[in-house]
Order: sequence, then structure tokens, then C-alpha cells
Amino acid sequence: MNVVSVINYKGGVGKTTLTANLGAELAARGRRVLLIDLDPQASLTFSFFQPTQWERELAEERTILQWFGSVLDTGPTEPLEKYVLTPPVVNELIGRTGEGRLDLVASHLMMVDVDLDFAAELGGSRFQHGSPRFLSLHRALADELAGEAFAGYDTVLIDCPPNFTMVTRTGIVASDHLLVPARPDYLSTLGIDYLRKKVSELTRDYNRVAGTAVARINPTILGVVFTMVQYANNGPIVSQRNYLNQPDTIEAPVFRQSIRDNKTLFAPAGEQGIPAVLIPDGNPHVQYELQQLASEFLAKTRT
Ligand SMILES: Nc1ncnc2c1ncn2[C@@H]1O[C@H](COP(=O)(O)OP(=O)(O)O)[C@@H](O)[C@H]1O
Ligand SMILES: [Mg+2]
Repeated sequence: MNVVSVINYKGGVGKTTLTANLGAELAARGRRVLLIDLDPQASLTFSFFQPTQWERELAEERTILQWFGSVLDTGPTEPLEKYVLTPPVVNELIGRTGEGRLDLVASHLMMVDVDLDFAAELGGSRFQHGSPRFLSLHRALADELAGEAFAGYDTVLIDCPPNFTMVTRTGIVASDHLLVPARPDYLSTLGIDYLRKKVSELTRDYNRVAGTAVARINPTILGVVFTMVQYANNGPIVSQRNYLNQPDTIEAPVFRQSIRDNKTLFAPAGEQGIPAVLIPDGNPHVQYELQQLASEFLAKTRT
């Protein structure tokens, strides 16, 4: 099983869109995929469930908010598998072609508060290393995913919020790899370096506390995926081409396949509960790019 966090400090770079489409494409190819929405914005959740249904059936008892609540409580942590949902519309489409499945752990708009509770539990952000719960809280998600209940999944994709708070850290600690969507521009590439630094710090701190008592972590950057690439005259616009053609300027591997900007296709995708890559009679250019990206992802994660 591969656990991959989709992460970038910036919002609006296509993290959620990539998570939904990559997950859907892998499931359509017969894989068992679990998506975990850690972002309080819950865009991934709303890509598969209508807000009214979320409000009515999921919000109170069936989201990651309640699970994190049990992590922070003094009582036993609830099994995460209790919160796994199988979004019906997309799986109806996936089920027609094979054995694949796309499951989801939904998020909640109140997840913002969980970070504050975490900080309180760890004695504030400055004294985290000394806290007796440092390891167990950081490992909360990793421990669940290592359990028997999740052994049947081939891939877990975690959609992270655009920050580096405790919730994000639990995602990174649980991950073998990080996938970094970014726009091909200056500020976005700067952000990637900063992210690398923060992940190295977390890895170092965690492993120092872990010592020999628990398994060490080593989340590596699988690659940067350039998203929202703007095309003109059959090629990316000049200002973006520099970033696309010179991956050496970024100190991280870069996926060969990028995803073009296409507002008409991506904007309404969530409303139908089907990611763009699987929409019947969808845009062939965009679908091809997403399929190629999935192939590259599989090649890079094959062990
Ligand atoms: N390749 C793309 N072309 C055009 N619009 C896109 C593309 N990818 C994502 N979007 C749109 O941009 C917005 C932000 O994307 P999203 O995936 O939610 O980013 P993030 O998760 O990083 O905040 C959404 O409205 C989404 O529909
Ligand atoms: Mg998002």
C-alpha cells in the first residue's frame, strides 16, 4: 500500500482536483483507493457528496472531525474504518469497468478547531517535542492506516490543508510520499522549497523523539505536478514555459506530465460527483493528461 499526501502551502493550486482525479483514474484501472480529506474547506468531500447530503447524513457522526475528536479525548481512539464512505455516483461508473473502488473519509468545516485542540494538548506550539503525547498524536493516522482494516487498499491519497499545522503533520507522518501540485510561476516554485524545508524539519524532529522505540519516517517528494498550465498556439504560454522546461531550477523531481488550465471542464466537475477524468464524453485533451499523469504516478510508486 502506498500512502501519498497531496500538499502545497498555497491554496487554489489544484490539490483537491488532482487528488480526486488521480484517485478516480486509479480506481477505474482496478485499484482500491482511499481518499482522506483533511482540509476544513472539505472541497474533496464536496466533489463526491452534495452539501445537502453531507449536512443531513455525514456532518454529525461520519467525518474525520469526529475521529480526531476521539484521538484527542482521553478515551480510546475510534477505528478510522468506521468513517470510510463509498461515494455512490463515481463508484457506479468505476464498478462497470472492473474491480476498482474509490472510498473517502469525509472532512468537516469545523476541522479548523481541531488544530487548536491539538496545540493545547501538546502544550502550545513551542513545547511540542517535550510533550508525552508528541509521538502518539503525530502517529494517530499512521497507526490506523497500518491496521488490518486498511490492508486491502492499494493507494491512499491524503488531501492536505494549505498549512503545516498538526492535522497536516499527521498526514505527512502517515505518508510514504508527497505529491506537490503547483502552478508554473515564481511564487509557487519558492513555496516548494519552503515545503521541503518544513518536511525535513518534521522528519528530523519526529525521528529524534522516536529514537529506537517506534519506526522512523522518511516521507519523500514523489514529484511536483504543474497544474493550470495555460496554452496558446499549441503550447504553454511563454512565461510558464520557463518553469515547465527547466525542472532543474526546482530542487525536487518534477512529473513530465502537466495539467492544462480548463475552467469549463474543472469548475463544474464536483456538482456531478464525478471527477473530470471519468466524465463520459469529457474533454479528450484533459482526460489524456490526467491518464498519463496516473501512469507516471504508478511508475514512480511501483516498488
Ligand atoms: N487544471 C485546471 N484548470 C482550470 N481550473 C482548475 C484546474 N484545476 C483546478 N481548477 C479549479 O481551481 C480551483 C481550485 O482548485 P482546487 O483543486 O480546489 O485547489 P486546492 O485544493 O489547491 O485549493 C477550483 O475551482 C478548481 O475547479
Ligand atoms: Mg483543496
